[in-house]
Amino acid sequence: MDVEINPIDKIVGEAKMPGDKSISHRLVMIGSIAKAKTVAKNFLSGDDCLRTVEAFKKMGVEIKIAGDKLTIKGVGFNGLEKPDTELYLGNSGTSMRLLAGILAGQNFETVLTGDESLTKRPMKRIIEPLKKMGAELSSIKNDGCPPLKMKGSRLKGIAYKMPIASAQVKSCILLAGLYANGKTSVEEPFQSRDHTERMLKLFGAKIESRNRITQVLPGQPLLGKEIIIPGDISSAVFFIVLGLILPGSKIKIVDVGINPTRSAIIEVLKRMGADIRIDRRTDAFEPMCDLTVSSSSLKSTIVIEEEVPQIIDEIPALCVAAAYADGVTEIRGAGELRVKETDRISSMLENLRQLGVSISVKGITILVEGKRKRISPAKKATGEVILNSFGDHRTAMAMCVAAASSDSICKIKDVACINTSFPDFFDVFNYLKK
Ligand code: S3P
Repeated sequence: MDVEINPIDKIVGEAKMPGDKSISHRLVMIGSIAKAKTVAKNFLSGDDCLRTVEAFKKMGVEIKIAGDKLTIKGVGFNGLEKPDTELYLGNSGTSMRLLAGILAGQNFETVLTGDESLTKRPMKRIIEPLKKMGAELSSIKNDGCPPLKMKGSRLKGIAYKMPIASAQVKSCILLAGLYANGKTSVEEPFQSRDHTERMLKLFGAKIESRNRITQVLPGQPLLGKEIIIPGDISSAVFFIVLGLILPGSKIKIVDVGINPTRSAIIEVLKRMGADIRIDRRTDAFEPMCDLTVSSSSLKSTIVIEEEVPQIIDEIPALCVAAAYADGVTEIRGAGELRVKETDRISSMLENLRQLGVSISVKGITILVEGKRKRISPAKKATGEVILNSFGDHRTAMAMCVAAASSDSICKIKDVACINTSFPDFFDVFNYLKK
């Protein structure tokens, strides 16, 4: 499905975001291996999380979705059943990496696979530590990518120093650690999102984190909970950026997650001069707040490597903001963007250049030269401006924002992928645009 986006003047109004994708995945996984019932409100029924739901249903877990309410009848640590087919996880790296941690400790064999993009994503980063724990798993094509064949085994706890900061890898090891013999600890080079740690603690696991080292003990039973999933800040960022760059805009995004390991994007944008107000902050197991965003004159900034894991999913939107910030914005240490759903460095370069933005890459630093006027595609005189999502949800939404802020009608190819994380994106866009 392609979409045509017309330039818009501004966005105004109030909106609520779909549930956080990372938290929704974890809720299904941890709720399934907990005892008793788990109920969640504001569950994200996007394609990725539904893959996780389907996988656990195939392993015998009763899961019901009614609107945005999700109910799971937990089966306990050892209650999962061998699925009768391979587990197809679509486009979802989070499903695959976290699920592999849980499956490493089961007493049955499984195959994890996915779509064209997922079967090209690096899995050595989980294969190596899981093997150290005694898991039997391999990349079937021997290329370090899915499909993965897993045979559950008796695991032993390890102390693992992660070479890259990745919440998915950290979570995989911690979840496997629940099934291990003895303590498991993980040290990351930079802090990544801590949703797994928070949720495991809430459900009753023995887990502690200090100075980027997290340790978990096996054997403590998990107990189902009732929770409200905050709105996804990685979805909110598209409207935050649009509100900042379109003069006269003012929007309020309610009940959005503001976990300190996810909110660095607000700090980066504020450093660029963004007018973003935080109200009604509540500190449940995952902090939530309302964000009020007013259009602002942005200036460039330097994002350092340490910040990148905490804004990793917001970088496509940040590149669009940088196109409107006076000066050259540098995003350093952005190499992980090359191994997301698509190579997001290449797709930002290709698309934003089409829109007349001066963007380049030096090693693993992205450089964007911003101007305080509507971006203007060079090609418009010769014909249609065509942008491409390359099948990547975040690229698709970032390009909708860029196109709406430009001075031309743009066609964006292949936007059905937006269903991965934000099924109502166009409804919210149409409601806010003025
Ligand atoms: C996620 C972690 C991030 C992020 C992904 C979701 C998670 O990946 O890009 O969209 O839910 O743990 P990495 O941890 O591999 O960087």
